[in-house]
Amino acid sequence: MRIVLLGAPGAGKGTHCKRIVDRYGVLHLSSGDILRRERAQGTPLGKRAQGYMDAGTLVPDDLIVEMMSKAIKAAPEAGYVLDGFPRTVNQAEVLDQALSENGDGIDLVMNLQVSDDVVLERITGRRSCPKCGAVYHVKNMPPKKAGVCDHDGTKLVQRPDDTAEVVKNRLATYYEQTRPVVDYYRARRTVHDVPADGDADEVAQLLFEQLDALEQE
Ligand code: AP5
Repeated sequence: MRIVLLGAPGAGKGTHCKRIVDRYGVLHLSSGDILRRERAQGTPLGKRAQGYMDAGTLVPDDLIVEMMSKAIKAAPEAGYVLDGFPRTVNQAEVLDQALSENGDGIDLVMNLQVSDDVVLERITGRRSCPKCGAVYHVKNMPPKKAGVCDHDGTKLVQRPDDTAEVVKNRLATYYEQTRPVVDYYRARRTVHDVPADGDADEVAQLLFEQLDALEQE
């Protein structure tokens, strides 16, 4: 299965990719997570990406394409779910081109639809575990003990780009550069729109319906 999960910042891409991984055994390839790992390790890529990420703008395409091509090539037979990539029309074109050279293509594109108010509330309330990457929300999905990861007891942190001010830039960047990716796919194939303002279990159910149908094909 080669899946693309699209959606604005805070739409729930990471949250639902974890559920998709648990149920279908594919690999979760999140460009944001890979970049954060590179930053934490202080690699040249991480250092170059830092300023763009903290400002809520996009890391240049050439860096991202190289990074994601490597990750996709190393993916297992079971396939992958892409989260945060492609994020520009150029990235989508390069991905299609690279896959078609191997006679492959994306099997399913799903698009989480959320309102801007929900995005702001979700992102400013998000907390994550710096050790295992588990994601919580102070109100919607709180850890059992406030401020501490359920899995390993590590103190939860807030991402530096999760402030109200940076979220506005991230949303503006999304509308300008990433929403055209939805139109790019729509012009070439079916895009499954999934309303994502509601409860996470309900959203997951809608995604699973599409994925179950794909599995049965
Ligand atoms: P990235 O990490 O990809 O950030 P993003 O796209 O802005 O997405 P988020 O991770 O903020 O949100 P999400 O949709 O995963 O939501 P989540 O599930 O956590 O990118 C960060 C930066 O890296 C970019 O700004 C850019 O600089 C750079 N970058 C990355 N990829 C790039 C690319 N391809 N090209 C160029 N630059 C790139 O959920 C959010 C919160 O809401 C959580 O607290 C969660 O618990 C809660 N929640 C989720 N769903 C629900 C629900 N249904 N109900 C209630 N609460 C919910």
